[in-house]
Amino acid sequence: MAESLAFSRTSDRRKIYDEIVPQIVALVSGETDLVANLANITAALREAFGFFWVGFYIKKENQLVLNAFQGSVACTRIDFDKGVCGHCYTTREIVIVPKVGEFPGHIVCSSASKSEIVLPVFDKSGNVFAVLDVDSDKLDDFSETDAQGLQKIVKIVEDLIKKN
Ligand code: SME
Repeated sequence: MAESLAFSRTSDRRKIYDEIVPQIVALVSGETDLVANLANITAALREAFGFFWVGFYIKKENQLVLNAFQGSVACTRIDFDKGVCGHCYTTREIVIVPKVGEFPGHIVCSSASKSEIVLPVFDKSGNVFAVLDVDSDKLDDFSETDAQGLQKIVKIVEDLIKKN
């Protein structure tokens, strides 16, 4: 496995997602440790897109608990009825927030974060196992292209979980 990522220097995110998805599949194949794989996935996303913050919160008992991430320090525990992450957990849907200041209950981990996308990660029983949270320091930085591209990353994680 090559421990480096190759991708086009382009503003066309769809192209970058298409380039990195197979590389991420290769990156995680052969490693069974979930945190090691989640850590590399967050690093790959940050490297490819320069996102301000990328990380996973995993459901543990009745909260979402910070797991592998790249970026500045963040809140460690999120209640299911709090924040964009909690909203994603309870609605089980991808949430795109163009302007975090306008999202009721948004949890501020960094004042530099301006927009956000959160995707649910399902286990084989269909329960939300985790959420993938990506923050940008630019307003309105996430679109359907990111929802589709990041959903492919989530699918990789779901396949990893199924094996465990
Ligand atoms: N803003 C998130 C909290 C997590 S941080 O952005 C890393 C939320 O409102 O759920």
